Amino acid sequence: MYLTIQNLTKRFDDFVALDAINLEIRDNEFVCLLGPSGCGKTTLLRIIAGLMPFDSGALSLGGRDLTKMRATERGFGIVFQSYSLFPNMTVAENIGYGLKIRKQPREQIAAKVEELLTLIRLPELADRYPHQLSGGQQQRVAIARALAVDPSVLLLDEPLSALDAAVRMEMRAEIRDVQQRLGIPTIMVTHDQDEALTMADRIVCMNHGVIDQVGTPHELYTRPATRFVAGFIGSTNLLSRHWVREHLPELIRNLPETPQLFELSLRPEDIQLKADPQGTARVTQITYLGNISRVQFNWEGRDLIAETHRFSQLQPGDLVSVNVDSEAGAWVHV
Ligand SMILES: Nc1ncnc2c1ncn2[C@@H]1O[C@H](COP(=O)(O)OP(=O)(O)O)[C@@H](O)[C@H]1O
Ligand SMILES: [Mg+2]
Repeated sequence: MYLTIQNLTKRFDDFVALDAINLEIRDNEFVCLLGPSGCGKTTLLRIIAGLMPFDSGALSLGGRDLTKMRATERGFGIVFQSYSLFPNMTVAENIGYGLKIRKQPREQIAAKVEELLTLIRLPELADRYPHQLSGGQQQRVAIARALAVDPSVLLLDEPLSALDAAVRMEMRAEIRDVQQRLGIPTIMVTHDQDEALTMADRIVCMNHGVIDQVGTPHELYTRPATRFVAGFIGSTNLLSRHWVREHLPELIRNLPETPQLFELSLRPEDIQLKADPQGTARVTQITYLGNISRVQFNWEGRDLIAETHRFSQLQPGDLVSVNVDSEAGAWVHV
């Protein structure tokens, strides 16, 4: 393991912002810290960066104790949400700043700046000032500046959240591509589940200062460990075991050993509805979203959601029969 965090706890007065965090980050890995606002993502990132002290636990990089190293000694590259470029410096000066303060020779800095400008695909903008750049260009420069010193870890705190949707999409792929090419371990904070799903090798899903689950995007989506993860990543139907036993008995088979602690998360796309005058469920609402149709319906006393990639011909009030794949669903901790 490259970066290891053990039992890390952080309090602000009486408030526990991080509660016994354990996390290991591999070489070359892209990890997203995902969770709602206030769950502790930035706090964890700042502690890793050495910008904030913590109360207990251990932090090490390649076996070396990080707490003995100041932020500047760690050699991490950091990019924050708001553009933090120096406004009175050109793009090239911004990117070369870290090398200049490390007293590198001028030619070496120029070569590195040129290489990074090519990497972020802005070779012609070297002499511009930050205010002459779009938001997306500014964030690319901020990333290049963080990469200039060959950081051992790249730390990104919501680097895309201030950008508009189209630029954000484009930059997801770009950041991921740069990270892969350089093979640099990266931790990115985001509250955007789509961003985490598309970019991360592994997602760390956080909730109120604790890690609920760590896994690949596919693992978190298909096998969420908790009710929180199931609801935060994608949408879902949460069903009590009593209800499942009664109305979807074929799904009860994998119910864990402490059943009172679990409920079933059933994804909307795992439910198929068919117009049926004999049906036992009734459609209450249809939402057309272009690529999918979302159908809300009431069945055996429950309001549920189904989604289909085909245009739904159903109407509110229609009676429908319900079909659920017997392999569908995941038991999640409540
Ligand atoms: N310097 C601070 N003093 C007191 N409370 C703080 C401080 N920084 C963060 N917090 C609190 O810690 C919690 C986690 O904050 P933060 O890590 O910024 O969350 P996130 O980045 O996930 O939105 C929040 O409740 C926040 O109000
Ligand atoms: Mg934050």
